[in-house]
Amino acid sequence: MSLKHTPQTLWDKGQLCLAKKLCDAYTDFLNEKGWLKNYQPKNSSDIGGASSAEAQDHVTNRFLNSAARMQYVCIDVNNEQPRSRMMVLDQLAQGEIFILDLAAGHGAGTLAILSTICELRHEKIIPTLPLNVNIRGIDMSPDALNYYAEILEKLKPWLAANAIYAKLTFSVCDLNISGQINEILDEFFEDAKAKKSNRFLCTISAVSGIKKEGVERMMDSLKLIAARLSHRKKSSSWLWVEPKLEKSWLGAFVETISFTLKQIFSGKSSLTATEEDISNAPTRNFQWIDPINDHLTHSRVVVMQFKNL
Ligand SMILES: C[S@@+](CC[C@H](N)C(=O)[O-])C[C@H]1O[C@@H](n2cnc3c(N)ncnc32)[C@H](O)[C@@H]1O
Repeated sequence: MSLKHTPQTLWDKGQLCLAKKLCDAYTDFLNEKGWLKNYQPKNSSDIGGASSAEAQDHVTNRFLNSAARMQYVCIDVNNEQPRSRMMVLDQLAQGEIFILDLAAGHGAGTLAILSTICELRHEKIIPTLPLNVNIRGIDMSPDALNYYAEILEKLKPWLAANAIYAKLTFSVCDLNISGQINEILDEFFEDAKAKKSNRFLCTISAVSGIKKEGVERMMDSLKLIAARLSHRKKSSSWLWVEPKLEKSWLGAFVETISFTLKQIFSGKSSLTATEEDISNAPTRNFQWIDPINDHLTHSRVVVMQFKNL
């Protein structure tokens, strides 16, 4: 699906504006917690983590940045990687979809996808057809997942007014231990089967902060997920969005997962010539207006997407 145009509510004068309802929900959340006064995005770490203090710092200072990156990828105003945009818009056009949100944290990435689609529906840029979104948020931080659920609750009325019905189930899980994710996947696929859905989107956003060794430790789980998503009767897409691609090691990991997803399905051991070279995905720069302090903020984004069909 392509976009006729991008509404001014999401992109104005060469700058990204985050969907207002997402900003309102998020600001309400920070206000209720009494954390708005701690908002200092420049002084925060990129990583997040298992402790309550890390989860609090991360939701306070990194949520908007992650959300801005994902919105940029979904609207793709400069038509730089239209396949990523089309993949998201097509998967989330209507019907029943199951999203596996890995290292989901406070959910900024997936909440930004839903908010962007909702705003495009609200502005009548794309059709408003009933869409049920079943999200399985996976993270080792129970605090971060609770924040995810709280922010989503605030967004639900607006999403529902635009025929998007979102349900979040979350699982506290250490992705370094593949046995844990295996059990969660059993439940995830049973839920999808019960709803007769074979459409899956796996989202990963902003994990590069855990560095090469951190991602390496998750690889068994990621490959297992890719293998289980790869099935002739499943339509599975992956969207991996990061602030930067460090010396291409991340691209190499992503490529391994992409091979697993495709290999099992097609029996081929390499990408065809027409496939994008994931390890060389370009870094794109953009500017966005921070809705809390009104600062013009510079961000970078790398997007890697692939699917099994
Ligand atoms: C930078 S945050 C990303 C949050 C979110 N995906 C986003 O879009 O902003 C990284 C998340 O990875 C989680 N994480 C790091 N290592 C993990 C592991 N081994 N298992 C599960 N979650 C992990 C952290 O708890 C944190 O919430």
